[in-house]
Amino acid sequence: ETVEWEAASYDMGGHDTYMHKEMSEQAEAVDRVLRGRIDDRFSTVHLGGLNLDAREARGVRRIKILGCGTSYHAGLIGAGLIEELARIPADAEPASEFRYRNPVVDPDTLYIAVSQSGETYDVLAAVQELKRKGARVLGVVNVVGSAIAREADGGTYVHAGPEVCVVSTKCFTNTVVAFALLALHLGRIRDLSVADGKRIIEGLRKLPGQIEEILAMEPEIEKLAKEYAGAQSMMFIGRVRGYPVALEASLKLKEISYIHAEAYPASELKHGPLALIEPALPTVAIVPDDDLLEKNRAALEEIKARSGRILAVAHQNQEKADHTIVVPKNENELDPILMGIPLQLFAYHTALAMGRDIDKPRNLAKSVTVE
Ligand code: G6P
Repeated sequence: ETVEWEAASYDMGGHDTYMHKEMSEQAEAVDRVLRGRIDDRFSTVHLGGLNLDAREARGVRRIKILGCGTSYHAGLIGAGLIEELARIPADAEPASEFRYRNPVVDPDTLYIAVSQSGETYDVLAAVQELKRKGARVLGVVNVVGSAIAREADGGTYVHAGPEVCVVSTKCFTNTVVAFALLALHLGRIRDLSVADGKRIIEGLRKLPGQIEEILAMEPEIEKLAKEYAGAQSMMFIGRVRGYPVALEASLKLKEISYIHAEAYPASELKHGPLALIEPALPTVAIVPDDDLLEKNRAALEEIKARSGRILAVAHQNQEKADHTIVVPKNENELDPILMGIPLQLFAYHTALAMGRDIDKPRNLAKSVTVE
C-alpha cells in the first residue's frame, strides 16, 4: 500500500513555518490513519500489513518498543495503551540504549521499531541486531518504503503525510493513534470486551473534531506562551498516562525555544526536584480527569505551597494553577493523544516570541542517519 504525495504537500500553504502548517494538519492526518481500518461488526480494527495472525498475536508475552526522540515518546504512550487495552506487558526504550547493552532477546517478545523517517540509524541498527538474533520486529513508520519499513517483518504506516519541520508534531500524534489501533486490535484478540472495543472506537472517531477544537485555542495559548517566554527553565509533570505527555512537551520546548526543561513523574517531585521549585521555575502540569485527578491536584498544592507558577493542561479549570488550558475529554486511555497538542502550540509560540528559527533549530537534524 503506497500513498503518493503531491508537490503541493511540501508548500507552506500560507503558514509562516512548516511546524505551524504541520500542527494545523493534525485533524486530517488522524482521519487518514483511521480511514478504512475500523470494523464496527467486531468492534476492532484491521491493520493490513502486520503479518501477525490471531494465533501468533495470542502467543505474544511481552512487547518492547524502540525509537529515538519524539518517536520514543510516542512509543511510551503506545506501551501504556497496549498494557491498558491488551493487557500485554509493554515498555519503550531508546533504541540506542537497547542496542548498546547486549539485550536479552526473548522469543515470546514482539519488538516494535518506531520512526517517522524510517531512516534513523540507531533504530535501524537495533532492528538489524534483533533480526540477527531471530526476533520478530514490526515497524510503526511514517515514510513508506524507508529502510526500517523494509527491514521489519511487518507493521503499520502512520499516514501522517510529509513532515518537513525538524521537530515532529503531526507524526507524533498519528503514531500514538496508530498505537491505539494496534492496542485495540491486540486487545480484541485477547480479553478486551466488545463494549470496551466500541467505547474506544467511539473515542477514536471523536479525535479529529476534538483536535480542531484544540487548534482553535491558539490565540489563547499564544498569549500564555508570551507570559512564560522569559523563563530560564521549566518543569513538566504528569502521572502514568500523563508522564510521556510531559516528556514530549518538555522536549518540544527545549528543541525550538532552547529553554531548559525537564519532565518528571508528578510523584517523583518530592524525591528531589521539589528543591528547585520557586517563583522563577514555572511548572506545566498534565491533569486529566481520570482516576488520578486527586493525586495530581495534591501535586499542584505542593508546588503552590512553594510559590511555584503553574500552567495546567486539564479537562476542567484547576484552582491551584495560575492558568489552565482546558482540553476536550475523550476516553481516559485516549486522553494523552489530545493533551500534548496545546503544548506543541505553547512551545511554538514561546519560540516565536524569542525569535528562534523554528523549522531548523540549532544543532539538530530531521533524521540522524549516522551513529
Ligand atoms: C531526530 C529529530 C527528532 C526525531 C528523532 C527520531 O533526532 O531531530 O525530532 O524525533 O530524530 O526520528 P525518527 O525519524 O526516527 O522518528
